Amino acid sequence: MLGPKIGAGVTVVKEHDRGLPQIPAHPAELNQVWTNIVDNAVQAMSGAGTLTVRTYREDEHVVVSIGDTGPGVPEELRKRVFEPFSTTKAVGEGTGLGLDISYRIVVNGHGGDIVLRSEPGDTRFLVRLPTSEPPSA
Ligand SMILES: Nc1ncnc2c1ncn2[C@@H]1O[C@H](COP(=O)(O)OP(=O)(O)OP(=O)(O)O)[C@@H](O)[C@H]1O
Ligand SMILES: [Mg+2]
Repeated sequence: MLGPKIGAGVTVVKEHDRGLPQIPAHPAELNQVWTNIVDNAVQAMSGAGTLTVRTYREDEHVVVSIGDTGPGVPEELRKRVFEPFSTTKAVGEGTGLGLDISYRIVVNGHGGDIVLRSEPGDTRFLVRLPTSEPPSA
C-alpha cells in the first residue's frame, strides 16, 4: 500500500488491530482508495511530515484511518471534497477525481462510508467498511 513515492522526509506510523475480521471486499478497488488518499496526504505534506495509518474495529465496521500532518483541507473545499473536479491543484497536477472515485468505491461498491476530519496539522480520512455483506436490495 505504501510505495516508494513516500519520500525520506515522511515518517510512516502504522497502528494495526491484529484481530480484525475478514470482510467482504474488492481488494484491487480498495487499493485505489488507499493510493488516492496516501497520494493526497504525501502531496499535502510536501515531502515532510508524518503519515499515520490506523486500523480498528468499530461496531460492525472495520475502520481504516489515514492521517497526515499537512496544512489541512481548505475550509471552503471540505464539504465538496468528494465531488468530481474539486481540486486545488494546477492543471496537469491533479484532476480532482481521486476522492470522487474513492467515495464511489467505498460507498457504492462496499456499502461503507468515508469521512474527512481536517484541521491544520491533523487531517484524517476515515474509511469505514461493513464487516458483513449489506442486505441485497
Ligand atoms: N490530505 C489532504 N490535505 C490537504 N488537502 C487535501 C488532502 N486530500 C485532498 N485534499 C484536497 O482535496 C482536493 C481533491 O482531492 P482529489 O484527490 O479528489 O483530487 P486531486 O488530488 O486534486 O487530483 P487527482 O487525485 O485526480 O490527481 C485536492 O486538490 C486538495 O485540495
Ligand atoms: Mg488526489
